[in-house]
Amino acid sequence: MRGARWVHPLFVATTGLPALALVVAALRDDLGANPIETVTHVTGEWALRFLLVCLAATPIRRLTGWHDVVRLRRSAGLASFAYASAHLATWVGLDHFFAWADIVEDVFERPWVTVGSVAWLGMLPLAITSTRRWIRRLGRRWILLHRLVYVSAGCAILHYLWLVKADSTAPLVHGAILALLLALRWAPQRRRAPAPS
Ligand code: HEM
Repeated sequence: MRGARWVHPLFVATTGLPALALVVAALRDDLGANPIETVTHVTGEWALRFLLVCLAATPIRRLTGWHDVVRLRRSAGLASFAYASAHLATWVGLDHFFAWADIVEDVFERPWVTVGSVAWLGMLPLAITSTRRWIRRLGRRWILLHRLVYVSAGCAILHYLWLVKADSTAPLVHGAILALLLALRWAPQRRRAPAPS
């Protein structure tokens, strides 16, 4: 699989499948009793899942030596931002009908919306600066800026945890996965024994 040219395009195509499934369900009038809620939940879940996939790239590279996996990181990050933006647009447009006064009130008065907003705002500059041109332009500052992904991931988990009313299993499971990925990410790297000559 290493170096296989089909891995990245296949991965990119896969990131579009949840959106395609939503469109097909909408066309078949199959979004359930509350279509807006269904779209909000599905886009929110995939925004978080692709964010975790994005954060899994470095631990996978460390554990397997598969360097090409970092190419998938950018696509996973952009997919997460796309789903988070569709999620936000659904809330602003379909849920609140662009009632800006209510929207601003919710952002400042409902903690789960506040942290959701911080999560999205943290992802915005990462999506904008995800191009090779920005990487060159920003140099070391790019690495510093992209540490915002940890803030967004933490806020997205808090958003999920604070919005669930009864069962907090799902946000806790996502939180545990995030904690594991960060632990693997920040664990001191063991020096690989040089290959016997
Ligand atoms: C301004 C930003 C955001 C707003 C206003 C927002 C709003 C919402 C709303 C209204 C819900 C449904 C709440 C309910 O069912 O009672 C929700 C659920 C969710 N959101 Fe967000 N969200 C935002 C950002 C994000 C971001 C950036 C992520 C992930 C990266 C995210 C992930 C989720 C998840 C995982 C759920 C739960 C889905 C489920 O219950 O299955 N949200 N959000």
